[in-house]
Amino acid sequence: MHLAAWASLGIPAEYFRIEVPYGALQKALPQLLQAGLAGWNCTLPHKTEMFRLSQVRDSSAVQAQSVNTVHVVEDRIHGSSTDAAGWARAMCEVWPNSIPPGRTLLLGCGGVGQSIARSLVPTGCTSLTLVNRDPLRAQELLQELTPLVAGRFPIRQIDWDLPSLEKALTQTDLLIHGTSLGLKKEDPLPVPEEFLKPPLRVYDAIYRTDLTPLVRTARKSGCQVEDGLGMLLHQGALSFEIWSKKTAPINAMRQALSQAAGRTL
Ligand SMILES: NC(=O)c1ccc[n+]([C@@H]2O[C@H](COP(=O)([O-])OP(=O)(O)OC[C@H]3O[C@@H](n4cnc5c(N)ncnc54)[C@H](OP(=O)(O)O)[C@@H]3O)[C@@H](O)[C@H]2O)c1
Repeated sequence: MHLAAWASLGIPAEYFRIEVPYGALQKALPQLLQAGLAGWNCTLPHKTEMFRLSQVRDSSAVQAQSVNTVHVVEDRIHGSSTDAAGWARAMCEVWPNSIPPGRTLLLGCGGVGQSIARSLVPTGCTSLTLVNRDPLRAQELLQELTPLVAGRFPIRQIDWDLPSLEKALTQTDLLIHGTSLGLKKEDPLPVPEEFLKPPLRVYDAIYRTDLTPLVRTARKSGCQVEDGLGMLLHQGALSFEIWSKKTAPINAMRQALSQAAGRTL
């Protein structure tokens, strides 16, 4: 989708993959700069480390405490995060007026979950429930967000056990799935099928050409469901705008991504 974007604006640019092993990002940076790269996207597992190593961080990076987009300006590394804004744009595209969301349950408080949760602080929501396999991670996020929310909406953490999840989901309008369960074909459903009932809406941050078990099951149960392909498109478009300082040619990007994913976005 990035190649399609540059091509549609007639700008000669390349976008390619460089694999950097976990723990080797700091060592790789001088080489990336020496190679003359104008910027890059940074993905798992490097986003937090890229935040730490960025010399200039914009407000999106500070809010997310993570960097997925780097723009090199006069040899200095400028870091941004387009994940949360990409998620919000994707949400509004499929469900207009869905930001601020209603009663929201965030399942998965890793990098993406944290970015989305932090972005809900200014926009607000009716209530926010945080759940993570390792409860400590959700508790830490709760501690960080509680003073920032300052009582504007209820925020709480619950443990990842079936009775708690079942009860919480009966009081939820929007389930945001932010764990990596579903990336692999053999992954189990993150929540039992019987907990997924309309009018619950489900947003799965994962994108997979053959759809995740969560997306397929929730859809079969009659819930409104979206997966992360739209978020991928919009976070990419926002990265493009950071690098090019031009409005992203969203139709060209959407078409290229749809073609790669084998379905219309
Ligand atoms: N659509 C997009 O544009 C987009 C962008 C970025 C990421 N994503 C997707 O979002 C997902 C999460 O990414 P991330 O950056 O947040 O990753 P991350 O920081 O590594 O976090 C992973 C999350 O998954 C949980 N998890 C992992 N294995 C689990 C299991 N077996 N059971 C329950 N929970 C489990 C972790 O829980 P613990 O804390 O307990 O380990 C943590 O909450 C990925 O699958 C990625 O594909 C989508």
